[in-house]
Amino acid sequence: MNQTDSFIFDIPECLRNLWWETCAQEFMSSSSIENFEAFLEFLTDYLSLKVRPITGDHIFDILIRSPEQALIEKLDNDTCSIINIGDEPTSVITGSKQCFLKSGQGFWVTDEIKLNPTSTTNEAVLDVLLCIKYKEGYSNLRKSALLDLNFSEDAFNERVLMSSGVCTAAKYSSQNAPYFDNAYISRSPWKTPTSEDSNILTTGNTSDFTKTIKVFKVPEEIIKPFQLLELNKVATEQDYYSRMNGIKGKRAIEKATRYVKTFSINNADVEPITVFNRPNLYSTARDNIIERYLGLHIDFTFKETISQETHHPNLMSINLGNEDRYFLYVNLTVLDLIELLKPNEGMTYRRLVQTFFQLYPNYPVIRLKINPGDAYIAPAMNLIHDGIGSKNSPDLHLMFRGYISSSPMELRSL
Ligand SMILES: [Fe+2]
Repeated sequence: MNQTDSFIFDIPECLRNLWWETCAQEFMSSSSIENFEAFLEFLTDYLSLKVRPITGDHIFDILIRSPEQALIEKLDNDTCSIINIGDEPTSVITGSKQCFLKSGQGFWVTDEIKLNPTSTTNEAVLDVLLCIKYKEGYSNLRKSALLDLNFSEDAFNERVLMSSGVCTAAKYSSQNAPYFDNAYISRSPWKTPTSEDSNILTTGNTSDFTKTIKVFKVPEEIIKPFQLLELNKVATEQDYYSRMNGIKGKRAIEKATRYVKTFSINNADVEPITVFNRPNLYSTARDNIIERYLGLHIDFTFKETISQETHHPNLMSINLGNEDRYFLYVNLTVLDLIELLKPNEGMTYRRLVQTFFQLYPNYPVIRLKINPGDAYIAPAMNLIHDGIGSKNSPDLHLMFRGYISSSPMELRSL
């Protein structure tokens, strides 16, 4: 079964009995929740083992109601599962379908489908439903990939924001900017990291290029040749490429390439890639063959299956446009995701990303502001990431792929 499919599951009779024997009375009298907590612990263990991992993003709720109430009330949009712990069969509505749940059966939905209970089949009997929802608000950051921001502390607050998680891109997909099915994008509102968040994001050894994101200002002498190309006047993709492929453009790229090579591990070659995006894109990563946007992704083709190998090329991107652009990332490496999700052998990177967001929809995406003339270095084959382009003018950047150190060597003679 796919992590992204909706499905029916059973809970064992002993768990349902445990609810009726130890919790029901306590719950109705509001006397204490001691037994309920113990019941939830057993249930969480069972569901995590047999159904879906229950994470810190999930909360439980008991819903007891009459058939009349069931017909008029709707569940919160963030309900991902309903388990019928009552004695009678009941039914739930998912999308346009009605689905019957026997006593002890549950239904788990993807976040694309809204779940609503309807009435019990016996109109004289109350529904007793256990609902599993996604918690509101942000989930806590785990410590892993590190941000090396070569600016002051004030600049950190000005440049770094955290999303309130993610949502599916489906409703933002349009003819102009179609997304892949099951693509995810960051979800507003954005918040400023607390000092604890900032500590998690930045403190530690930033010399490992496979798990470090670095943002810094590119020296004036590297940017100047691009300014001479008057890229601020670029309106079309063709215009951008003709300026970059002219004699002056080629010289500017060659000089920038020599500069980036000084960061390169073992002085290996780096490959420059000129990138143009039209203004006002919420996602910049696009499959140019299929002509669809990827949303948050790891830089592998869809068919590639995950591996524990982490020594992949990373990238450096220099913002050559007129305006700020943004690099988005999740501060967890592929190895973290493998440890967290325990994927089946043969799972693709794309499915790994979908599974993570489905189970942790409140995990913050980090948004880094990249000013004109700034660069970032990121392990794009080892982190979930994306970009947000310039708002009003074309989004222009020069990207390099290679084994680019996050602790650059001394600048050599250019
Ligand atoms: Fe990418």
